[in-house]
Amino acid sequence: MATTGQPAAGAVATLQESAKRHLWMAFTRMGAYAESEVPIIVRGDGCYVWDEHGNRYLDGLSSLFCANLGHGRVEIARAGAEQAERIDYFSTWSYAHPPAIELAAKVASLAPGDLNRVFFTSGGSESVESALKLARAYHKLTGHPNKTKVVAREIAYHGASLGALSATGIPALRTPFEPFTPGGVHVPNTNVYRLPEGFDPVALADAVRERILFEGPETVAAVILEPVQNAGGCFTPPHGYFQRVREICDELDVLMISDDVICSFGRLGTWFGAQRYHYQPDIVTTAKGITGAIAPLGAMIVSDRVAEPFMEGAEMFLHGFTFAGHPICAAVALAAIDAYEREGILEHVRANEAPFRAMLESLRDIPIVGDVRGAGYFHAIELVKDRDTKETFDDDEAETLLRGFLSGELFRRGLICRADDRGDPVIQLSPPLIAGAEQFEEIEAVLRPVLEEATRRMHVRGGTERVGVRRA
Ligand SMILES: Cc1ncc(COP(=O)(O)O)c(C=O)c1O
Repeated sequence: MATTGQPAAGAVATLQESAKRHLWMAFTRMGAYAESEVPIIVRGDGCYVWDEHGNRYLDGLSSLFCANLGHGRVEIARAGAEQAERIDYFSTWSYAHPPAIELAAKVASLAPGDLNRVFFTSGGSESVESALKLARAYHKLTGHPNKTKVVAREIAYHGASLGALSATGIPALRTPFEPFTPGGVHVPNTNVYRLPEGFDPVALADAVRERILFEGPETVAAVILEPVQNAGGCFTPPHGYFQRVREICDELDVLMISDDVICSFGRLGTWFGAQRYHYQPDIVTTAKGITGAIAPLGAMIVSDRVAEPFMEGAEMFLHGFTFAGHPICAAVALAAIDAYEREGILEHVRANEAPFRAMLESLRDIPIVGDVRGAGYFHAIELVKDRDTKETFDDDEAETLLRGFLSGELFRRGLICRADDRGDPVIQLSPPLIAGAEQFEEIEAVLRPVLEEATRRMHVRGGTERVGVRRA
């Protein structure tokens, strides 16, 4: 249980002032805070966090898809402090230390098949960056020096560093920073809600093959895919999709990278996405939930086959980050994994996924709700202007809906979730994996009136009749 941590009234004003003057927040319109307060979260306990004024919020996003074990897990953090008493820091560059060794062995034991080599990073972008570099280096080492390109999916987010951004398929995030290292090419994602009538969803996997053939298989190093794609709103794979991609990768000698930065450590009710959807990647990238977000850590997990050429003679992977596998973070990860196991977190998600989904499905009677999709504790609601035609909102309308109303209103009513329009407008929910019936009820109690109000405000077709408001 966390201590109260509530700042005194005078300290609140100072925090606000300093936040506005000095703190540069990530992916944030700083100008928006000229007139309004920066939301300052000062403490957390379980599924809840409190702001500087003492208001309580249900953390329906696990902060950023990562506080999987809930907040206030002091006993897990304490494992880091205890580690500091032994060795506070040492690098993994030519040296090893017990927490990194033990964590590597533990992660390898949880990962499917021959994913037995664990290369640590400090977070998700570094994991993706490492995988893209490893894929290139692997092909060079095995006699295919021109295999450098990476196939990724449209609207997918794979990280903010320049290499990871070349795989990211969100134009608005890419254009301010172009040009990238060449070679990031894209294919359609698995948004089955918007597939043309009669289109076989497994053909979406064949789009990967077509793209590789178009580029020339001798130029393609890897395909990178999330088990459930976050950006765009929790796109799940059609049945057989990953199996077909695996076949294509084998046929064309392309490495399959599963970007599990969100979808691992219980988010889908399994350790890794590959176990949920039954496929075998060559490389898995992870971060976020590996420590329950109590310390920053990521990892790239590599198959024996791909790691082998780097293990021989004078070869090495010329790559690494100073703080990757930090002893304190590795000790925290070991304690977090112990908690996942002892508390039966994966089993809890599997047992509660259906009621979570059912609660979200129950909102389908609200006209603005076009689709409900996702897996495990990772779901999205797509918002539409017309449910029958699936017509979406234009840019100005999406701005009014998401930033002009939903984000602020959901937060004001005590629910932290994501209102996003990197694809079509969606609300995403990804609660801590300890959440249960009580939290699902609370989520519904906030979402229902807010979505009904959004239906009215946006003049959604069918909305005026169904939510009982007369036309103006
Ligand atoms: C699928 C995926 N890959 C990579 C990243 C980048 O991770 P990080 O923000 O830890 O660098 C993210 C972040 O959300 C992600 O969702």
